[in-house]
Amino acid sequence: MTTHPTSARPSDAPDRSADAAQRGADADWWRQAAVYQIYPRSFADGRGDGMGDFRGIISRVPYLRQLGIDAVWLSPFYPSALADGGYDVDDYRDVDPRIGTLEEFDELVAELHGVGIKLIVDIVPNHSSDRHEWFREALESPRGSNARKRYIFRDGRGENGQLPPADWTSVFGGRAWTQVPDGQWYLHSFAKEQPDFNWGHPEVREDFLRTLRFWSDRGVDGFRIDVAHGLSKDLAEDLPSAAELEEIPKDGNHPLWDRDEVHEIYAEWRKVFDEYDPPRIGVAEAWVETAQRRAKYASPKGLGQAFSFDLLEADFEAEDFRRIVSDNLAQSAETGSSSTWVLSNHDVVRHATRYGLPPRDGRPGKQGADWIMAGGPEDEIDRDLGLRRARAATLFELALPGSAYLYQGEELGLHEVADIPDDQRQDPAFWRSAPGDRGQDGLGRDGCRVPLPWTRDGSSFGFGEDGSHLPQPDWFAEYSVEAEEGLEGSTLEMYRAALSRRRELQTDETLTWDEELCRGEVLGFERPGGWLNVTNFGDSPVAVPEGDVLVTSAELESGPDGQRMLPGAATVWLRRPQR
Ligand code: NOJ
Repeated sequence: MTTHPTSARPSDAPDRSADAAQRGADADWWRQAAVYQIYPRSFADGRGDGMGDFRGIISRVPYLRQLGIDAVWLSPFYPSALADGGYDVDDYRDVDPRIGTLEEFDELVAELHGVGIKLIVDIVPNHSSDRHEWFREALESPRGSNARKRYIFRDGRGENGQLPPADWTSVFGGRAWTQVPDGQWYLHSFAKEQPDFNWGHPEVREDFLRTLRFWSDRGVDGFRIDVAHGLSKDLAEDLPSAAELEEIPKDGNHPLWDRDEVHEIYAEWRKVFDEYDPPRIGVAEAWVETAQRRAKYASPKGLGQAFSFDLLEADFEAEDFRRIVSDNLAQSAETGSSSTWVLSNHDVVRHATRYGLPPRDGRPGKQGADWIMAGGPEDEIDRDLGLRRARAATLFELALPGSAYLYQGEELGLHEVADIPDDQRQDPAFWRSAPGDRGQDGLGRDGCRVPLPWTRDGSSFGFGEDGSHLPQPDWFAEYSVEAEEGLEGSTLEMYRAALSRRRELQTDETLTWDEELCRGEVLGFERPGGWLNVTNFGDSPVAVPEGDVLVTSAELESGPDGQRMLPGAATVWLRRPQR
């Protein structure tokens, strides 16, 4: 692994627990938080059964504290048959026994809060699992019954109703309707084990308010809302065909996605959030057509914040990054929310790998999933270059105004595990798409969900005592926490240094592009107080401007006249002298 020097972690970094109380009282804590996503089944296994759990997370709270994050977002930990990695929820107000207990959840909240870290949990309101008590009741109840009305049941087409009500395809591929024994069909936008709720039903609405209060009462600080744009649907008697659906603009009137009335639901949720002090926060996962439509989810009268996936979808290019940042900041200024930045999460190919993929049309980094899923040979990935760029992009991200959402393992510079044998894959997106059609939409997501390496060797690289539920490759050893901890220039130490500095430097939610620096493949911007970020997206070194170097993603070079030079694919943070 290539390692790159960074500045040392400042010894005078503020004590995290000391300022916790003050920040606890701060209702705006989320606006510029560094939020670390934990995929619970793959973070740390405290019980030694190959599956991550709360005991494992609790044992790693000191690690999280040292990393310097402000909040943890926990992907679903609810009882689930894992048809979709836990996004198929059997019971919204309980813990999967393989992950822990409610008492352990309380302990986790207390441990995190004790070191000043907030907790966001994932809420999955578009669909339950097919094992949810309501869905089981629906299956046992007759057509037209109240139990069926909590979901979306329809008679089929054709003489005997043998055809699905419409020819729609689910997001994961395959049919979006499944037939039940009495001949009716139910809608599932995702896997067949994930029946969509009918949000026109008052009991569904009430039950989710109860769930929000249940977790808020247990001390959670906020919620990440899964498929936030999918809840409201308008399913007329005559359903459009898949081809017709495609043609309908997603401008608030599409039958399935991003309907205007979904915001009535979130206005109700906001009232619940505001019952608490500080108010609970919401962040929407909303795949919508325009930034304007995303803004509705981020409204202070609604969820308050929404993910922007623009950076995650971008090439590693100065022009694209600048446009995205400017657009998102302008959008936030309008809505009053703060911007969000994401480079990796549990649904996409890790950014260290994306940026090292063979260029397509001369552009690096974008087509990760389809390239890998189409069987792109792993040895064509330039891992060193990918990681260099990933580190540069991460420092760029952490210097931006707003919230940075980080995904577990990116702080180790982890790459995607591309070559998981088919018979060990878990992701329904992989299984539901035809082998020739495993492109961006049918992406298999197991490769970024492989359990983390904590030690160089040992069973499952220190993840737990008894293996790991997805296979870990040998190269995990050199990316382990043990290998990187204390190693100058390691990715872990770069994240620690950057997060610590960020806390110290954090300032107004604004930036100014430095037009002198923004030339060609270079972007420079300054935050109030003299915090300057310079990123070189190109290959040739560029001169480093005046100022104290705070953190770098790669070792600075020396120019012919002794001038400090920033190499290609690198970022430096400087403190500019203040006049
Ligand atoms: C988005 C989640 O991030 C993804 O993991 C999940 O499969 C779908 N929503 C369906 O819940």
